[in-house]
Amino acid sequence: MLNGSNQGNKTRAVHGGTKRTKAYNSLTSPIVQTATYTFSDTQELIDFMERKTWGDGEDREEYGRYGNPTVAAVERKLAALDGGEDAVLYSSGMNAITSLLLSILPAGSHIVITDDCYRRTRQFCLTFLKRFGIETTVVHMGDHEAMEAAIIPKKTRIIISESPTNPYLRIADLEKLARLGKQYRVLTLIDSTFATPVNQRPLEWGIDFVLHSATKYLSGHNDLLAGVIVGKADRMKALRDARGVLGGVVDPHAAFLLDRGIKTLGVRVQQQNQTALEVARYLEAHPSIERVWYPGLKSHPDFSVAAAQMDGFGGVVTFEVKGDLRATSDFIDRMQIPYIAPSLGGVESLIEQPALMSYYEKTTEERLALGIKDNLVRFAIGIEDTDDIINDLDQALTGIRVRHEYPQIQNLWEIRFRQ
Ligand SMILES: Cc1ncc(COP(=O)(O)O)c(C=O)c1O
Repeated sequence: MLNGSNQGNKTRAVHGGTKRTKAYNSLTSPIVQTATYTFSDTQELIDFMERKTWGDGEDREEYGRYGNPTVAAVERKLAALDGGEDAVLYSSGMNAITSLLLSILPAGSHIVITDDCYRRTRQFCLTFLKRFGIETTVVHMGDHEAMEAAIIPKKTRIIISESPTNPYLRIADLEKLARLGKQYRVLTLIDSTFATPVNQRPLEWGIDFVLHSATKYLSGHNDLLAGVIVGKADRMKALRDARGVLGGVVDPHAAFLLDRGIKTLGVRVQQQNQTALEVARYLEAHPSIERVWYPGLKSHPDFSVAAAQMDGFGGVVTFEVKGDLRATSDFIDRMQIPYIAPSLGGVESLIEQPALMSYYEKTTEERLALGIKDNLVRFAIGIEDTDDIINDLDQALTGIRVRHEYPQIQNLWEIRFRQ
């Protein structure tokens, strides 16, 4: 088996954690599409029960919720990629988060979470966990003093942050976060979905748990949902046992597709990093753009932290169009390469206006209170040619520029829009 902590990301994505010899001499990990496993006689059953640990996938399994060899193969690869001892795979990123928190938090405990994060994670903490007497304090991303002040000794069990965050791509200072966790004996969790293990490996900075929505870059093809947590072996064993109870297992066929997708992670992310940086620079210089949020730009508030702890800045570029809600929608409708869709990290570019996607039901004022402006765009870059993407942005933005320069055209557009 190649674990290769000294190997490059592309090698690890293909070979990391992978057994050289597999069933039937198959080159790829076979899909073991079964719900349960058989015992040839009672003695075999008793032998299994006597040394039973739930689903480590190394030997044999008992039942699909406790383990599956195809799932175990991907888990070994994911652990190798993030430099962790073990990984536990779940049916979605949200399932990974909720299962982790349900598994480790006692009633009456307390969570500290940063504000710029996936809204369903925040919702789970603030509403679902509250029903079990678990309190959550939300602190402003980047405010380490507020984070430290929010910790309640003996009560706070975990600090949760994304890095990069969604949608402003803020970067957590992983070293500071890990130090804070150790000082107060609080666990730390980084949702590293936007970074991927190619660009950032939080465990190397002393973080306890890394989480990915594997739906995004890891699978890379917008064709499955999965989530993963990586960390120390004993903690992962506890999570695997809890998964056997909570039941958030991933289907073996989805696990196979994920394994296949990960093999190209290194090359995909390299391409996406490069295009995103060029797009960010292009947009920053464009007269129809108000502001660009990309951690690889010096103008980003976390540029220096990102440069110190990341190997690449990721494939998502967030920006504000000079214009209102409608002008921004008009720009998005003019784009020809990206699809309008939530999600990110796949081979197809996706674009969305958060005000009309994740925050549709809220008023402009409510959205602004959450930091979501009407003219905000999240562009999740795929693996199309960089020049084609920039040309597409160029033609879509030209329309907006014309309207700025010629007010009478703006009026015409207003009339058209109202019809
Ligand atoms: C940063 C982040 N974490 C977690 C999730 C949840 O993942 P999933 O959709 O796989 O449940 C998402 C989904 O968009 C996300 O963007």
